[in-house]
Amino acid sequence: MSGLFTPFTLKDVTLRNRIAVPPMCQYSAVDGMSNEWHRVHYNSLARGGAGLVIVEATAVSPEGRITPACLGIWNDEQAEKLAQIAREIKASGAVPGIQIGHAGRKASANKPWEGDDHIAADDAAGWETIAPSAVAFGQNLPRVPQAMTHADIQRVREDFVRAAQRARDAGFEWLELHFAHGYLAQSFFSVHANQRTDEYGGDLAGRSRFLHETFDAVRAVWPENLPLTARFGVLEFDGRDDETLQESITLTKQWREKGLDLLSVSVGFSTPDANIPWGPAFLASIAERVRREANIPVASAWGIDAPAIANQTIEKGQLDLVMVGRAHLKNPNWAYQAALALDKSEPSWVLPAPYAHWLERYRVSEA
Ligand SMILES: Cc1cc2nc3c(=O)[nH]c(=O)nc-3n(C[C@H](O)[C@H](O)[C@H](O)COP(=O)(O)O)c2cc1C
Repeated sequence: MSGLFTPFTLKDVTLRNRIAVPPMCQYSAVDGMSNEWHRVHYNSLARGGAGLVIVEATAVSPEGRITPACLGIWNDEQAEKLAQIAREIKASGAVPGIQIGHAGRKASANKPWEGDDHIAADDAAGWETIAPSAVAFGQNLPRVPQAMTHADIQRVREDFVRAAQRARDAGFEWLELHFAHGYLAQSFFSVHANQRTDEYGGDLAGRSRFLHETFDAVRAVWPENLPLTARFGVLEFDGRDDETLQESITLTKQWREKGLDLLSVSVGFSTPDANIPWGPAFLASIAERVRREANIPVASAWGIDAPAIANQTIEKGQLDLVMVGRAHLKNPNWAYQAALALDKSEPSWVLPAPYAHWLERYRVSEA
């Protein structure tokens, strides 16, 4: 059997294979509440055979949403609805994960298909954004955030803790802290966004302080036996990548020592002035370096949609887990397609019997 289809155990959780659906915002919530769309979406992905399905960026507070249509987990009603999704993912054989986050200066935006830009300042649908410093991202996101006070920092940390507790109580078995993609936590780390002169800015220790404090506070409430992971942009492709990557590896080692179980290696997206070398699996070799030097299991996404490439990243020891995003939107049964391509024999074990039985027969009649 190909490496992609070997099980993966982290803490008390075993994934049936190395395929994960990364968090992908659906921009389909009202007041942060999930609905039928989310239920069908996540359950179909879980039925499709992936080992792990991570529910999209779910905001720890109303102002932490990217758009007004993003999911939230700042109240019990939202958590109850999410619990149903967690149960359904699990019943379909995948491990239910969730990503919790705060969008920082990228919050208060329109949906991607309605402009993907900041909601106009005079539009009541938008809201004041917060960030380490009063510096806008730029381009399509020009809104200048409020620089966070120490009270704001403490409040957001507590929001993360309550969100983690709700996620735990809702039955999620895999927590991913959204420390990536230019949102709040990544902004604290990023020299492009953080110009603070207090203990939350400046050198690596200062720019990491918010991330460490948030991680520590969540670690204290997230069960020891379940994976606690983070998604983090380890570099920006902004011309200072050697330094950023070195800092990211140092930070990852510190997290590992404090109980981080896996890092989902991604891009910082903290500046519009980046030169990203898009291409198939372009982050895999960088993830492999983080895996080796920080001595921690890693996952990664970005252009890993060809089964052979996905399998290679596992068999070459670059990744422990492959995140397959948009290819799952195209085909929720991507895992089945990958098993057909890689293992040639009839992969009826990937899909539930009510599908697999007929597909097997169909293939026989095709022959
Ligand atoms: C519709 C959509 C929504 C996304 N939402 C999130 C998100 O909520 N959190 C996150 O960390 N990344 C998000 N991403 C990035 C994906 O997790 C993934 O990294 C990206 O799609 C690249 O992987 P792929 O090439 O397999 O699609 C999103 C991507 C897409 C296409």
